[in-house]
Amino acid sequence: MTQILVTGANGEIGHALIRKLASEGASIVALDLHDIDATLSGFCAESYRGDVRDAEVLGEIGRHHRFSAIYHMASLLSTSGERDPELAHEVNVNGSFNIMKLARAQSGLRGERTKLIFTSSIAVYGLRAGDLRTRPLTEREFLTPCTMYGINKLYVEQMGRYFSEYYKIREGEVPIDFRCLRFPGLISSETLPSGGTTDYGPEMLHAAAQGKPYRCFVRESTRLPFMVMDDAVRALTRLAGAPRSALRHQVYNVTSFSVTAGEIKALIETSFPQADIQFEVSANRQAIVDSWPENVDDSPARAEWGWAPEYSFERAFRDLLIPKVMARYS
Ligand SMILES: NC(=O)c1ccc[n+]([C@@H]2O[C@H](COP(=O)([O-])OP(=O)(O)OC[C@H]3O[C@@H](n4cnc5c(N)ncnc54)[C@H](O)[C@@H]3O)[C@@H](O)[C@H]2O)c1
Repeated sequence: MTQILVTGANGEIGHALIRKLASEGASIVALDLHDIDATLSGFCAESYRGDVRDAEVLGEIGRHHRFSAIYHMASLLSTSGERDPELAHEVNVNGSFNIMKLARAQSGLRGERTKLIFTSSIAVYGLRAGDLRTRPLTEREFLTPCTMYGINKLYVEQMGRYFSEYYKIREGEVPIDFRCLRFPGLISSETLPSGGTTDYGPEMLHAAAQGKPYRCFVRESTRLPFMVMDDAVRALTRLAGAPRSALRHQVYNVTSFSVTAGEIKALIETSFPQADIQFEVSANRQAIVDSWPENVDDSPARAEWGWAPEYSFERAFRDLLIPKVMARYS
């Protein structure tokens, strides 16, 4: 029986994705650096504690399973990557290279292209002072990232494209089927982010729901694209399910709404009037955010595999996030 491997299973996206895949009847193998969360293990056929940098562990997993798809999400995020660029490179690049080797081996063993679905980020963009941040950027512009995380993501995008489309394969070898989403900041009602530079959106919400003060590390006027986790997971499974013949690209932008930190604060305050949210800018993190676009153009995803977010800004907070975080912390 073919299975689906999810790396970084304990992460924010992993939690939501595993539940969604399990609800669709998939047989899931989970991999994370730490023991798989007890809340997830019931949804997984098997789980492994292991490091994507460890090629032996991945080889062992590959010997025991046949994967039709691998969702590769194990990663160090942007702020963590700036704290330790060498570790970020090891995990985000070398670890991804190992996962690509696993996908190639699986394609060969199965005689069919194994899908490798990779979660990239708007961190691949790198705007400089004076560049216009307001225009929605296509997948091919301003690819001059300013963080180790963004550089790592961009390289893995290129590596995936190479092994999927260009690598001169040996007689009988089957290429991988690489598919990649560039996500904006993600907001979940279930899990709290750590180590990302778009974390201020979800952190504001979770702090307000718990009655805790929050000091936002970017300016009130900072505008970035965001998406709720439900839409992010829907995008991942929809891209994975699209027929290969419909896809003309390997890397797709997806986005839902583009809002300022001040607009997020104002919407949260309509439900949590006592919320104590103030702005104390971190120069380093503001500089990272200032290198990212205020919006991205996701028209190829819409045209080629029918991407469309279900949640606008207001709907996301009023109908989904606020009721769920209220229930979670009440
Ligand atoms: N959350 C976002 O806003 C966002 C936005 C854009 C892209 N992404 C990307 O989506 C993916 C998942 O993001 P997330 O928010 O779930 O991240 P997360 O930090 O919540 O989870 C990452 C998981 O990877 C695991 N991990 C880290 N190093 C590992 C290693 N060496 N071997 C095995 N596992 C390891 C961690 O234990 C963690 O469970 C990442 O690749 C991230 O770059 C996330």
